[in-house]
Amino acid sequence: MSLDANRSDLVLGLVGTGTMGRGIAQIAVASGVSVILVDARPGAAAEARDAVARMLSKLSEKGKLTPEACANATARLTVAASMADLAPCHVVVEAIVEDIAVKQALMRDLEAIVAPDCLIATNTSSLSVTSIAAACRLPGRVGGFHFFNPVPLMKVVEVIDGVMTESWVVDALTALARRMGHAPVKAKDTPGFIVNHAGRGFGTEALKLVGEGVADFATVDRILKGAAGFRMGPFELLDLTALDVSHPVMESIYDQYYQEPRFRPSPITRQRLVAGLLGRKTGRGFYAYEGDKAVVPPVPAVPAAWTGPVWVAPGEGEEAVSALVAKLGATLEKGVMPSNEALCLVPILGEDCTTAAVRLGLDATRAVAVDPLFGLETHRTLMTNPVTSAAIRDGAHGLLATGGVSVGVVGDSPGLIAQRVVATIINIGCDIAQQRIATPEDIDKAVTLGLGYPAGPLAWGDRIGADKVVAILDAMLAITHDPRYRASLWLRRRALLGVSLLTPES
Ligand code: NAI
Repeated sequence: MSLDANRSDLVLGLVGTGTMGRGIAQIAVASGVSVILVDARPGAAAEARDAVARMLSKLSEKGKLTPEACANATARLTVAASMADLAPCHVVVEAIVEDIAVKQALMRDLEAIVAPDCLIATNTSSLSVTSIAAACRLPGRVGGFHFFNPVPLMKVVEVIDGVMTESWVVDALTALARRMGHAPVKAKDTPGFIVNHAGRGFGTEALKLVGEGVADFATVDRILKGAAGFRMGPFELLDLTALDVSHPVMESIYDQYYQEPRFRPSPITRQRLVAGLLGRKTGRGFYAYEGDKAVVPPVPAVPAAWTGPVWVAPGEGEEAVSALVAKLGATLEKGVMPSNEALCLVPILGEDCTTAAVRLGLDATRAVAVDPLFGLETHRTLMTNPVTSAAIRDGAHGLLATGGVSVGVVGDSPGLIAQRVVATIINIGCDIAQQRIATPEDIDKAVTLGLGYPAGPLAWGDRIGADKVVAILDAMLAITHDPRYRASLWLRRRALLGVSLLTPES
């Protein structure tokens, strides 16, 4: 079987005309596809047609669509009187309620109406495409077509290959995505597909940091934005998506992967969910909201800068941190070991401040760790150990804030904040590649377009250096004994071989 997704007379049925159905209908008619809208709620499909027509005319007013293209696109939208009107469809996309029994019932109803060669696609975000298809007489024609909200702006779509999906279905959905101006990424039918799987590291690791008392929500957000370049902090993002959506997803992916420690959720979100602190939509989440604006706790005041000598510990990042200390005008001590008067700055790669200070034989009360990989120019991270003196901590803070660069001071944590979160994201991305869920290129494409991270996990790992990412993870694992930090085989092998993380298996 085959389907030419570029045929000029392509007819697409859209079942479920809520948020996602409307978005998919809009990009379909804009690309010349005829769309038949169906919804279980009386009047909903007509409302959707009117809403899509309004969106198209707004685009036309903004000059993004000619008046003629707008009129043609709107004319291609029709409302079905009943499901039976879907009979002439070449492809049907369902975007109904996320409930396996309801979706399976729909599959059975659809198969009684459409032709045997009609492609059926599901926009499910969390259910197994294979289990939806299992309800069908012809499961080979069913594939996943997972869009993101808002569909017209989120230009990526996951094309999901269920266990029974035939290759023509994946080819046709890939071509249809391109026709509609979206970037298709192919993924195997696995929990979270690519985007929701790759996105596990950001929130869960940030929650783990807060759970360990390393820093508060706002400090973690500030560091990940300022030092690592994320557009939004993990807690800002959790507030935007709302905990009634994101906490169940965290639990579901963890369980679907049979308690994979990398995805272990946090009791913090469960408690806050129970308390109703859902996020923006309830006016209070990790942040409080005044209207649309988050009330961000003030940044701690900058203390006076250290004026005594500064000794920088040897190892990864020594040169960069020494150069920074010199640039800030402090006196650098050059000895193999620090004097008793020195502030000891310890550049960290995956360790915590305690472990590094003991390894180096330092007086831990005088030791403060610094992140040499993330934010030396933009947002510096300092880390204390349980006995770092307040004078040393504050002096280091003041010194590194010289010239107005912001500084985050956090408690002891293997890999500080940014190394820990970014290494986790890279590790999960590598494991998606290892499991052959998607190609390295598609993983990076899905993550940059679907999650808006500064880089795809594999390219980001290459940029840092795969060997350094492994060193960070190995140190985190050695200190915590938590298998959550075990390096993916994909990552470790490529680090050992000295090749790019984007290198596929030969
Ligand atoms: P929605 O609640 O906005 O719309 C669902 C629509 O389906 C409603 O109009 C409802 O009346 C209709 N419906 C429910 N049962 C039906 C049935 N048996 N037959 C026909 N119509 C039926 O939901 P939304 O957000 O558009 O989600 C739809 C699907 O897309 C779900 O599977 C969801 O998991 C998935 N999805 C949602 C995303 C989002 O951000 N909202 C992102 C990606 C996927």
